[in-house]
Amino acid sequence: MTKAGIYIHIPFCKTKCMYCDFYSITDREKDADGFVSALCNEISHSSLDEYPWIFDTLFIGGGTPSLLNGNQLEFILTTLSKKVSFSCLIEKTIEINPGEASLEKLTDFYSLGINRVSMGVQSLDKELLAFLTRSHSVKKVFETFDHIRTAGFENINCDIIYGIPGQTLDIWKRDMNRIIKLNPGHISAYSLTVEKGTELFQMVNSNEVTMPSNSESADWFTLTRSFLSNHQYIPYEISNFSKPEKECRHNLHYWNIDPYIGFGPSAHSFDGNRRWNNTRSLDQYMKKIDEKLSPISKSEKLTLIQKVNEKIGFGLRLNAGINLDKFSKIHKNQFNQNVKLHQNKWNDYIKRDRKKIKLRERGFPFADAIAVDLMLQ
Ligand SMILES: C[S@@+](CC[C@H](N)C(=O)[O-])C[C@H]1O[C@@H](n2cnc3c(N)ncnc32)[C@H](O)[C@@H]1O
Ligand code: SF4
Repeated sequence: MTKAGIYIHIPFCKTKCMYCDFYSITDREKDADGFVSALCNEISHSSLDEYPWIFDTLFIGGGTPSLLNGNQLEFILTTLSKKVSFSCLIEKTIEINPGEASLEKLTDFYSLGINRVSMGVQSLDKELLAFLTRSHSVKKVFETFDHIRTAGFENINCDIIYGIPGQTLDIWKRDMNRIIKLNPGHISAYSLTVEKGTELFQMVNSNEVTMPSNSESADWFTLTRSFLSNHQYIPYEISNFSKPEKECRHNLHYWNIDPYIGFGPSAHSFDGNRRWNNTRSLDQYMKKIDEKLSPISKSEKLTLIQKVNEKIGFGLRLNAGINLDKFSKIHKNQFNQNVKLHQNKWNDYIKRDRKKIKLRERGFPFADAIAVDLMLQ
């Protein structure tokens, strides 16, 4: 049976980071109870119990979900448990920020059945944390990591970022070294992206800061992959590294184009044919739910070609590559023609057998460009 994921978006943050384009708002924690009640309303009135899939992952992301207290999280989980079987939900993740999840809170989350924690470390350099306008110190990262383990969590992810203006390859290597000493089961290492509408975007546009060049970015990328691979972190996706059996099952749903259903403001959903997302405004969201109206602000049905192209785009980012058996005969032929057409350009970067096509190690820095060339028209 098809496996699927559930995503819940918690929009509150203590401060807004200068690079972050995720929907999050500050100074609204007083609305947390009202929000949780609207969220539970959305879940209760959803079709979650009618889909013909097994929901095996839950990801509570944000924003900063660790700003919720144990009671609020319990309310959300109890509401969910009336719609889906909790015994099937084998991975239940919550995102937390360093210094914003006490041992007591983490212990509550663990006792409620959350079994995976994802902590946004970003950097272990004081100046870089200040540049990124992070609200926590380096010390808080280690203190919070300690609390996560003490609370009982064995499945832990750390998010780290490279390509930050002012960062050197040596600082990055030192940070990765300190992270692997903590021995998390999973590391997400992202290249800093400049998102429209962020403070970073304005700084780059006004030449206040300069981002790494393409060739510098490729160096960061190559160093990250070889360093983490050499330390037993398997690069199973372009930015994601895990110890055996510790891959993020929830994110694999996105990358494998499986269905997922999202709740909360800005949350996205995909049912295999249609993609939709909720309004990106807490007030609008709460108002719609209060008026018993749908909080969905956009919905589109994907064409067959769009679906195949998603499989190509995401599949090339995975170590496992693209499973051609999932394509219809006609799409497989078109795809093979594209591969032939760009053979001279990408032959050394791609490897293939009868069933699969994947990138060679040297192909990963060019994954997006290769995907564009191989996508169907
Ligand atoms: C939406 S955040 C939530 C996590 C949590 N609130 C925190 O900041 O620690 C999820 C992750 O996305 C990554 N992220 C957000 N904006 C990014 C950007 N512009 N470039 C690279 N990574 C980014 C960060 O690594 C962050 O930990
Ligand atoms: S990076 Fe995390 S803490 Fe910072 S604004 Fe985004 S969601 Fe909030």
